Amino acid sequence: MSSITTLPTSPGPIGVFDSGYGGLTVLREIRHALPDADFIYLGDNARAPYGTRSFDLVYQFTLQAVKRLFAEGCHLVILACNTASAKALRSIQQRDLPGLDPDRRVLGVIRPTVEILGKVSHSGHIGIVGTPGTVASQSYNMEIEKLYPEFKTFTHACPMWVPLVEYREANSPGADYFVKKDVEQLLAQSADIDTMILGCTHYPMLLDKISKYVPAGINVLSQGKIVADSLADYLHRHPEMDKKITRGASTRFLTTERADRFASLANLFLGDDIEASQIVLA
Ligand code: DGL
Repeated sequence: MSSITTLPTSPGPIGVFDSGYGGLTVLREIRHALPDADFIYLGDNARAPYGTRSFDLVYQFTLQAVKRLFAEGCHLVILACNTASAKALRSIQQRDLPGLDPDRRVLGVIRPTVEILGKVSHSGHIGIVGTPGTVASQSYNMEIEKLYPEFKTFTHACPMWVPLVEYREANSPGADYFVKKDVEQLLAQSADIDTMILGCTHYPMLLDKISKYVPAGINVLSQGKIVADSLADYLHRHPEMDKKITRGASTRFLTTERADRFASLANLFLGDDIEASQIVLA
């Protein structure tokens, strides 16, 4: 779609991408950390969930979204999606960015989440829940092994959790069944788990249910604030990128689903009166 010759060069908004609604949990915290910045949020709701899709499809869909956000004027795109970070980020950074525009940046959510573990875990036993794609990719295990080789990781895939959010069942009694079962299966792997990573940006939308079934004393890590702090730090260390961000305190919302459907849940979650536009990604 877009190429190096057609991309806008003037400063633009920060792009935030997720397969669906989950990235809103990250956007909310980033907007809090960078209140003046402009943002474009893109949710590929029509094709969510990504978590059960093949490596190749997640890569193709994510690349389409990144190209779209670049074409909208973004110089910096945050993949606010663990599945996309696990399955597409490295290929996009290494294979696609040099040809699209080597000065634009795409950042993921896994690395900043792993970086803070040293500060929060005492036992070094880390439980991770995520989509089947994120868990199968072993991205968390590998990142943790690199930064904290003495730590032990325990993972569990929760294939029903994203659909519960996307289909607005997160607060229903039915959600308790799946959340309880999956939390118990994760924690049964080690009595010493003291930190549980919610390794999917949709999962904070189930936090009330999750907190019911995780015993006190276990830290439950949501990624929004972690990613927001890491982004603020990144921009501080990279003034050349900071200069490419416009500062009008606005957010535009794009979705591949029906715009009114997206807006009603986003409104509820962000506590804002937002409008969304429907787009086609190809
Ligand atoms: N929010 C995405 C993540 O962090 C959900 C992926 C999906 O669509 O299954 O992995």
